[in-house]
Amino acid sequence: MKMRTITLVICLFLVLMVTACDKKEKETPAVSINTSSNSASFAELTLTPKSGTDRWYFAEQAERGQAVFAANCAVCHGNNAEATPHWKTPNDSGHYPPPPLNGSAHAWHHPLSILGRTIYFGGAPVGGQMPAFKDKLTESDIIDVIAHFQSYWSDDIYDRWLQIENSSRN
Ligand code: HEC
Repeated sequence: MKMRTITLVICLFLVLMVTACDKKEKETPAVSINTSSNSASFAELTLTPKSGTDRWYFAEQAERGQAVFAANCAVCHGNNAEATPHWKTPNDSGHYPPPPLNGSAHAWHHPLSILGRTIYFGGAPVGGQMPAFKDKLTESDIIDVIAHFQSYWSDDIYDRWLQIENSSRN
């Protein structure tokens, strides 16, 4: 009888744990991006080289992204995504200035899902300073702006990023 009670308690505990994990997963989806836009979503993006760019994006996307970038990102990341010369030195409050997004820094180590999430939620979830754009930009704006700053990347950096992107999808 006593053994049955213990088993019951253990089972109940396990059920609660599983439910808790499940809930947590739902609260932090892999790419939680605005679904109100009708254009392509991250999940639908194909990586096949498009004519004109040889990359996952069409030239029009990178062009549209240029306007998004100029209006929302250039103030911090620089007109050509080059950042400031001292982006590697933390400021007085210990935070790092905005890094370049032109392929010379770290951004290319991230798959689209992470880049999208950084732009959507900003740096707050990881203790950073970058503002969130979830209320300002649509999902397709975010896709376009990524295409734009990736257009600064050399083919070599793009190829290395593509490997990271591919393995993030497996
Ligand atoms: C107010 C300044 C500011 C603005 C505006 C801003 N960012 Fe940032 N961004 C930062 C900072 C600072 C970081 C470094 C991480 C942090 O502190 O959150 C960062 C980091 C990033 C990263 C990660 C880079 C890496 O090396 O991993 C990406 C991608 C990015 N920003 C894209 C954008 C895009 C796209 C826009 C415009 C839609 C934008 N940012 C607007 C300040 C800004």
